[in-house]
Amino acid sequence: MTQDFFAVCPRGLEELLAGELRAVDASAVAPVAGGVHFRGSLAVGYAANLHSRIASRILWRVGQGSYHNETDLYDLARGTAWEREFSPNQSLRVDVTAHRSPLRSLQFATLRIKDAIVDRARDRSGARPSIDRLRPDVQVLVHLTEQTAQLYLDLSGESLFKRGWRADKGEAPLKENLAAGLLMLAGWKPQQPLLDPFCGSGTIVIEAACMASGRAPGLQRRFGFEKLRSFDRAAWTRLQHKARASVDDRVGAQLVGRDISTRVIAIANANAERAGLGALLQRGAVRFQASDARAGEPIAEHGMIVTNPPYGEQSSPKSASVGSLMADFAAQLKRRFPGWRAWLLSADRKLPQQMHLRESGKSVLYNGALECRLFRFEMVAGSMRRDKTPGRLASPTGAADTTNVP
Ligand SMILES: C[S@@+](CC[C@H](N)C(=O)[O-])C[C@H]1O[C@@H](n2cnc3c(N)ncnc32)[C@H](O)[C@@H]1O
Repeated sequence: MTQDFFAVCPRGLEELLAGELRAVDASAVAPVAGGVHFRGSLAVGYAANLHSRIASRILWRVGQGSYHNETDLYDLARGTAWEREFSPNQSLRVDVTAHRSPLRSLQFATLRIKDAIVDRARDRSGARPSIDRLRPDVQVLVHLTEQTAQLYLDLSGESLFKRGWRADKGEAPLKENLAAGLLMLAGWKPQQPLLDPFCGSGTIVIEAACMASGRAPGLQRRFGFEKLRSFDRAAWTRLQHKARASVDDRVGAQLVGRDISTRVIAIANANAERAGLGALLQRGAVRFQASDARAGEPIAEHGMIVTNPPYGEQSSPKSASVGSLMADFAAQLKRRFPGWRAWLLSADRKLPQQMHLRESGKSVLYNGALECRLFRFEMVAGSMRRDKTPGRLASPTGAADTTNVP
């Protein structure tokens, strides 16, 4: 039977998510700010959880109706057959999100919806589900617009950016789904050499390696839908088997992460191992190296840099010198990386000025609540002659200069 779903994602990545959902046979795929509506069988909902690298969670709509006040919400939730999906022995968490809702307190709305679910269970079976905000068995999410309430069950459980491999974080790690989004927005293809010179715990390189080797992001974790009564274990097992059979570690790839901190390089290596990338690490298709980005050499003649350098908002003793770090890094790019394209995610709008480069493109993305920009810079071999045109730097080494074109 066809069901209605909503996939949540970081703002700025909705179109990419829509593409992923079409690839798992979703129908009526409709991107909106912060997510994508889609339809399909429950198995399509499972497949979206298993295969989407961009989604933060997948919600299954189990009810909807119009409302004016909290009593309407209570009645709507009380009239929904929750017992079809979970028993009073399972623990519950209820969340409410809203866009232009006239209600004054979302907290009170949440309380009334929770009461309705609990009252319905108690009336029907005499038992009441317990509330557990930290590790609930079942998560209900209600989304309110001006006049309509949509009631969802969360099929994901833990947020989907948690792939199941991260044990250790470096400084300010990117969420895995945002890292995947950067690679997709950059148009990176697995055959292209990829360098992240500020790799931290390795998120971008590990996501790239999983894409290159065809590893579905959800192969190593559990999902909320496994605890629902409708759970179709046979369909789920089929999806998992098919996804496992698609993994190919023989892929030719050149993926390198570097960081100045040997401590985070050890973390990146350990994370990659846990992500199942041992074979790629062993034959050098994936490598992590301790190295200063201001002096790093290219890993191939042409390739792509996708990176998330340190920026001012991150509370770090290094932040005072971020401007000069980025200027020195840019100088190294200009000297040594002609033919490369670099994509840098930063919350600092002044990044291009700091780098004395003009970006050839940019898009706005959100790293959690932090508004960021993904800047694109083309490193093009320039002339040998000294040139005072802004953006064209004379090479101190006398080697062919590199400049960027707008
Ligand atoms: C924002 S973090 C990157 C986080 C990473 N994307 C992740 O997901 O874990 C920036 C990283 O730049 C590194 N860094 C700072 N200065 C550096 C330099 N001169 N060369 C290379 N890495 C540097 C820091 O050690 C830090 O790990």
